[in-house]
Amino acid sequence: MSIFDKKRKKLHRSESIVFGREGNEIVKEAYNRLKDNILYFAVDGTKKVIQVESSIAGEGKTTTVSNLGVCLGLSGKKVVIIDLDFRKARTHRSFEIENVDGISDYMVGRVSKEEMIKQTKYENVSIINRGSEVTNASVILTSEKLKKLIEELKKDYDFILLDCPPVLLISDYIHISSLSDGVLFVVAYAQTKKKQVSEAISLMKNNNMNIIGAVYSFYDYKKSNNYSEYNYGYYNYYGYGDKNKKK
Ligand SMILES: Nc1ncnc2c1ncn2[C@@H]1O[C@H](COP(=O)(O)OP(=O)(O)OP(=O)(O)O)[C@@H](O)[C@H]1O
Ligand SMILES: [Mg+2]
Repeated sequence: MSIFDKKRKKLHRSESIVFGREGNEIVKEAYNRLKDNILYFAVDGTKKVIQVESSIAGEGKTTTVSNLGVCLGLSGKKVVIIDLDFRKARTHRSFEIENVDGISDYMVGRVSKEEMIKQTKYENVSIINRGSEVTNASVILTSEKLKKLIEELKKDYDFILLDCPPVLLISDYIHISSLSDGVLFVVAYAQTKKKQVSEAISLMKNNNMNIIGAVYSFYDYKKSNNYSEYNYGYYNYYGYGDKNKKK
């Protein structure tokens, strides 16, 4: 599965969400297909907690989790996105929300659950940002309070998307895996080395983690062979794109 093209590199955080703005039809379509795969994975209604991982930093986890969340919300699913990347909290920026009164504040009883959960400007999408600095991530990630919170959220939301730190850099993925139903693995196309990807995958497999699928980020669909087909097909059905590009 491929998303975005390389040229759009340095986007302002809030611009990383393609929905609700003109253009990017091919990218939106790719997210829709990702969303359909996730809906299929969760069809029996028991699997709700998706852990979004990658091998190294900067591969597009936060961008993917934010767009997937908005896409699920647009399809009528109630979604909450939780920023569990305690060392580098970024998810709140995608939704232009201040990083205050977050999960770290809730864990120490400074804010209530209601104060912690923030409605975004996107339909059906809420976010739980990190909040105050976290000194010991594993204490929070292995706490009964977090486990209980996830169980409570499962009653109110169709999907709980976890934005996580990269596998090869930080071992939080192990603790987080005991909270999640499956891992969506993000790979920066033609950037992350095969060795890094296979190392990350074997680390996750060694911890019996359920990898439900992988998604390419930084994929330049214009260079892909099936671009013309896709675009052509796109034209037929949706009335835009380059109809002359049929092979
Ligand atoms: N599919 C993509 N195509 C092009 N640029 C992208 C794509 N996904 C993310 N980016 C850009 O790459 C940068 C890193 O993205 P993002 O923060 O989502 O990665 P991350 O995996 O969450 O990083 P970290 O490990 O630091 O949390 C951002 O500037 C973002 O706009
Ligand atoms: Mg991130």
